[in-house]
Amino acid sequence: MENKYFTTPIYYVNDKPHIGHAYTSISVDVLKRFYKLLGCGSYFLTGTDEHGQKVEKAALDKGVDPKSLQIKSLKTFRALSDILNLDNDDFIRTTEDRHIKSVQNLWNRLLENDEIYLSKYSGWYSVRDEAFVAENEITEKDGKKFNSFGSELSWVEEESYFFRLSKWQDRLLELYDSVPNFVHPKSRLNEVKSFVSGGLKDLSISRTTFKWGIDVPNDDKHIMYVWLDALTNYISALGFPDQENKKYKDFWPGIHVVGKDILRFHAVYWPAFLMAAGLEPPKQIVAHGWWTNEGEKISKSLGNVIDPIELINVYGLDQVRYFLMREVPFGNDGDFSKDAMINRINGDLSNNFGNLMQRVLSFIFKNSNQTIDFTDKVLNFEIYQNIISSQNNLFEMMDKYSFDGYLKIIFGHLNDLNTYVDKSAPWELRKTDQVRMKEVLDQISLCILKITQFLSPFIPNGAEKVYSTFGLDESYLSFDKFDEIIKKNSLKISKPEPIFMRIDS
Ligand code: MSP
Repeated sequence: MENKYFTTPIYYVNDKPHIGHAYTSISVDVLKRFYKLLGCGSYFLTGTDEHGQKVEKAALDKGVDPKSLQIKSLKTFRALSDILNLDNDDFIRTTEDRHIKSVQNLWNRLLENDEIYLSKYSGWYSVRDEAFVAENEITEKDGKKFNSFGSELSWVEEESYFFRLSKWQDRLLELYDSVPNFVHPKSRLNEVKSFVSGGLKDLSISRTTFKWGIDVPNDDKHIMYVWLDALTNYISALGFPDQENKKYKDFWPGIHVVGKDILRFHAVYWPAFLMAAGLEPPKQIVAHGWWTNEGEKISKSLGNVIDPIELINVYGLDQVRYFLMREVPFGNDGDFSKDAMINRINGDLSNNFGNLMQRVLSFIFKNSNQTIDFTDKVLNFEIYQNIISSQNNLFEMMDKYSFDGYLKIIFGHLNDLNTYVDKSAPWELRKTDQVRMKEVLDQISLCILKITQFLSPFIPNGAEKVYSTFGLDESYLSFDKFDEIIKKNSLKISKPEPIFMRIDS
């Protein structure tokens, strides 16, 4: 099975983490955990973007130097990774030596390949997006200029090195045509294609009017454009410039999961930089949509930024992870509302999954000698066989990043199981047919174990709790260990703790 390398964008340290950061990180964590379950080699990178005008400006506004701002925010972002229970393999910072070495090496390769020249930039710049903005993308209001995301623009005029991006137009179009789903979803690929087909201008890749960045080699007047610096993190973490490094050989090219606002940097500039430096472009760029808050665009000025840590404190981590992945098809925009969140948690996690677990496992604990046995008859149980047969569908869903589609299939099985429990009523069988009662409980337990495995990338804490009730540690949450579970002649249940309690609105 081929190795998978997944990355989140690296987050700017000028601000506190918000729901958008949590969303991308959780989605990548789900992917990492899923492919790990499947037994693939998988690597998960996240980190922080610590240079640039935006970070420098935030530091100046707060009256501190960028270094201390960066250290404070870094702590918060690292803490968020722990709070989200991310299974990341590395956390990279763009101020680390390994990264600075890597970016400067990339620069030198571009220079050697005659992909860089010195000139002068004059034009509009969005500090918020760290992006140069073309005339045809500008709107005006009250005498001020804005880009399509509503960020205010400032005029920049300075000496700058340029990357010969215009030269890469055809090669980029070829790349989009030759690599299936290079950008996912297709609608975003079309956007990228039409942007590139419209013609590319050379890109300014250095700045001279401020200092907070990586030095351009052999020219102390210039620092690098923050996006060239930031994008390179994806290979710095694999040991670049050492292309013989095991991690680089095993995992590059990677799959970058990003918000739709930063697609152009990843699907146009990044593959062009890499190809121009003689390196392999990424495997795929996956773009997700944006969350609004109770119908409104999220922004600091509106004061409606959603703090993921607060959400987790109120609703619980697995609950927040599940809601974000289930509520909105990945790739679409979505609206966050407390009601939707509570309905989702109560409807799916509490009434459906949690309740099934609680009533069946407590019943076994009290009435069935606390043991479960997987006989052939149990293994032939229809719902279990349906779960097994849906496996390929589930893999396909994951392959096309349809987290909601994947979860819908699983919850379809859970509905069937709940109906089966009601119909076969083991509490009645206890009085009439204890052999059949045990068989029903074994069948349901087998299904719960399999379903929990499939759910574990989304709700890792809950999944571990369920497995530990069956006396299984987390190492059994792996697809190829399921046979071992079945081969254990019998499992012993410990007293089940309630999971996913109902939330009172
Ligand atoms: N530093 C750059 C990325 C460099 S990657 C080489 C950056 N950082 S960011 O902190 O501003 O944004 C990180 C991510 O948060 C982006 O993918 C962005 O799309 C996402 N989101 C920001 N607001 C969001 C929502 N309201 N909803 C969903 N995601 C959003 O960009």
